[in-house]
Amino acid sequence: MTPPVAALLPERPRCDETPAWAALQRHFNGAGRRFELLPAFAADGERFAHFSQDAAGVFADLSKNLIDRDGEVLLLQLARECGVEAHRDALFAGALANPTENRSVMHFLLRNRPQVSANAEYDAPENVAPEFEAVLAERGRMLAFAEAVRADDGITDIVNIGIGGSDLGPQMAVLALDAFAHPGKRFHFVSNVDGDELAGVLKRLEPRRTLFLVASKTFTTLETMANAQSAKAWFTAGGGTDVARHFVALSTNVEATREFGITTSFAFWDWVGGRYSLWSAIGLVLAIAVGAERFCELLAGAHEMDGHFRSAPLETNLPVRLALLDVWYRNFFGFGSRCVSPYSSALRRLPAYLQQLEMESNGKRVDLRGRPLPFATAPVVWGEPGTNGQHAYFQMLHQGTSVVPVEFIAVRQPAHGLPGHHTALLANALAQANALMIGKADAGGHRDFPGNRPSSFFILDALTPRTLGALLALYEHRVFVMGSLWGLNSFDQFGVELGKVLAKDIAPRLASGDTHGVDPSTAGLLSRLKGG
Ligand code: F6P
Repeated sequence: MTPPVAALLPERPRCDETPAWAALQRHFNGAGRRFELLPAFAADGERFAHFSQDAAGVFADLSKNLIDRDGEVLLLQLARECGVEAHRDALFAGALANPTENRSVMHFLLRNRPQVSANAEYDAPENVAPEFEAVLAERGRMLAFAEAVRADDGITDIVNIGIGGSDLGPQMAVLALDAFAHPGKRFHFVSNVDGDELAGVLKRLEPRRTLFLVASKTFTTLETMANAQSAKAWFTAGGGTDVARHFVALSTNVEATREFGITTSFAFWDWVGGRYSLWSAIGLVLAIAVGAERFCELLAGAHEMDGHFRSAPLETNLPVRLALLDVWYRNFFGFGSRCVSPYSSALRRLPAYLQQLEMESNGKRVDLRGRPLPFATAPVVWGEPGTNGQHAYFQMLHQGTSVVPVEFIAVRQPAHGLPGHHTALLANALAQANALMIGKADAGGHRDFPGNRPSSFFILDALTPRTLGALLALYEHRVFVMGSLWGLNSFDQFGVELGKVLAKDIAPRLASGDTHGVDPSTAGLLSRLKGG
């Protein structure tokens, strides 16, 4: 498909080139770095109300963050001076928002008009109408296929083979929405080239009852191609004959899927980044799990968050408020990481998903013009579900020497019927956020908790396709705003290339033992691994 009419990206200053940046530095050097949460709550009876809000079904309490109202005003000024709104509008108008790869970035289009029946009014930007027509057609094909698989009792196991964005999003979402999943199907995910993963899954499966989804934007990724080839070999060795029925490809590279021998494929486009691709054909495994209607509810939740991001004033624009806090913490406080702690086992893969979304998007050291950045960018994003984290790393969060802002995500109504468990779960989430803030004095002793440790607290009314979609789109837009403020390209990922190239050179050396031209440490390790 031809690329859309590419609106130009607006010229914008980088954050450190604005007057607001200098003003923020002055504010930080004064009241900012000495800010204390408990006195701030005591002085401002409206603090909770002011620093909390709803957005597309996601409630966020930001009041336990190390920011006062003056600082917030300056951060909003920073967003204005950096032209974040113009940048956002250009993104939604199909601009070449990924200039290093000469591509538009339009994953938001994939969730436009999210109804199962496509008779709603057209509400995507006019200049991307042809792309949108293709999106609707492919979505229709893919959802019809998902329904057919759901109705096919002969298929009991669905294996998604993919890595990075072709694995993390679908896997996270299938686990998150397990309460809605088809009871007669099992879902498996194979990503690593480590044969243990594929072998571990295949040993429990029968070829005639298995459907493989080969998910790869490029259809060249080493891990996915190796796993897909081995899966095909296992299938034929086990008596499988109908490859067309048992192998499906999800890719922008439909030609390569044919060469592989796959005849059923669902396409998407180069303007969908891998880590933003859950909403495309890459979401097929989820559509099979929860059905077409619920998949569309996921799209609807994300679409609603898109609307919020596009229209809410900066002061109450949740992705913007979160990104501004991120910049405040990273560039002024110097905090190097952020912990994501979902108090929901169903969201157990969310931290890993967000790790790719944020670190692959904003883990950059040059700006859009290729100039080295004189400030820090993406923090380390990590985490585990609560309450498990409490019995592992929360010790460090409470009493360690580094301050790590924590993000709690809680769900008001559980999907299970064990109310006592849910009360305990929610009480623990609230208690941890509270403890981080209030601390406990013990005259500098071992039982002293310094307190004043920041956290944000998100609440979903229930974990549904719709609220999950909204939550994920919230994070996507937050990452975009962060990158926009930092003046970098959030949509390329050249940092993953070098290792891939070197692995190609090293692979034959593991067999031949040739260490010529490699550094002494790699040579020593090669010899050790080769053995014999
Ligand atoms: O190596 C990084 C990466 O390109 C990610 O950005 C992407 O999500 C992943 O690999 C998988 O790529 P593909 O979907 O093309 O197999």
